[in-house]
Amino acid sequence: MSEKILVTGGAGYIGSHTCLALLQAGFDVVVLDNLCNGSETALERVSALSGRTLKFVKGDIGDTPLVCRLLTEHCITGVIHFAGLKAVGESVVKPLDYYDTNVSGTLSLCRAMQEVNVKRLVFSSSATVYGEEAPVPYHEALGRGKTTQPYGTSKAMVEQILEDLYRSDPEWGIAVLRYFNPVGAHSSGLIGEDPKGIPNNLMPYMAQVAAGKREYLSVFGNDYPTPDGTCRRDYLHVVDLADGHLKALDWLQQPGVDVFNLGTGQAYSVLDMLRAFEGAIAGSLPYRIAPRRPGDLPEFWADASKAENVLGWKATLGLNQMMEDTWRWQSQNPNGYA
Ligand code: NAD
Ligand code: WQD
Repeated sequence: MSEKILVTGGAGYIGSHTCLALLQAGFDVVVLDNLCNGSETALERVSALSGRTLKFVKGDIGDTPLVCRLLTEHCITGVIHFAGLKAVGESVVKPLDYYDTNVSGTLSLCRAMQEVNVKRLVFSSSATVYGEEAPVPYHEALGRGKTTQPYGTSKAMVEQILEDLYRSDPEWGIAVLRYFNPVGAHSSGLIGEDPKGIPNNLMPYMAQVAAGKREYLSVFGNDYPTPDGTCRRDYLHVVDLADGHLKALDWLQQPGVDVFNLGTGQAYSVLDMLRAFEGAIAGSLPYRIAPRRPGDLPEFWADASKAENVLGWKATLGLNQMMEDTWRWQSQNPNGYA
């Protein structure tokens, strides 16, 4: 019988790509998502692409009785927990919403898991937990630094909670995955990132400029201490990232708790990204140099060796693939899933 995985937030960007990878690898999948930022259409397309069905339940991770029921009724053996709020700027304005969903929501989920004895969890964390002063490249041994916005703090808090949970009960198996900057889309062009409103992140913003939905890209600062003056990040393809979750599940055959960077180990500047995207669209992308965005760090990237050595995971898809796949998704779905 196939193993059955509960995927919270499975109707979102990274979740939908991971559901596809799970189904293709033979897992059965139950998705719990309240659709506050996800789409049922994404899941219909995941089913079509995989030729398999998945079970979708519209609901909240904070609904403990519902989660207990799903875990037991479906004989779930592991949970991949994507559900959460992720906009850094919004988290400064609405900290209670962020702590409520990201921290209290995760606590409720863990309580439900503990109650029904499902103790295998993969958690979506973020490179932002390294804080403002960590030296690059970020290595897991650095530990968590000082975060300055509620989004990052909420991820750091959950990491601490999960470590404490394991310490209290070593039957748990918990993989904390710290994503760097996920971009791209499935090569079919059928699933991708569908931000609501004005995109906060670089890649979807560039895609909307290329599609004619926005006039130009604002490059936030060109006076950083980097080779071309613009910020540098570790962008990784979402399909590689999805695969990292399968590797983490595999590692969780044994109990334990550990954190892993999921990145490529390579940094690109905003202008590198712009030029690479111009290659994919075979045209020029209008941009203007704008003031720095508050809170942005000049540069960070992953030391990705631990994930390779322990999980057997390594990013394989390069910058051109990220750009081509983003553009295919954007041009085939000018209004996202709407
Ligand atoms: P997303 O917004 O596309 O997906 C999150 C999903 O969770 C959405 O479908 C949303 O409807 C659902 N959701 C939110 N609150 C919920 C709740 N209370 N109950 C049930 N469902 C709920 O985001 P994403 O980019 O796919 O990110 C997934 C996870 O990865 C998040 O936890 C995010 O913080 C983390 N992460 C994302 C990035 C990134 O750049 N995208 C980087 C690092 C970490
Ligand atoms: C990348 C670079 C911007 C938009 C955030 C979160 C992080 C993680 C990923 C969730 C920066 C520049 C951007 C634009 C620009 N998310 N930029 N013009 O800030 O590295 O990371 O998303 O966990 O936690 O902090 O990603 O895509 O917003 O920015 O010049 O219109 O692009 O200044 O240098 P970031 P991003």
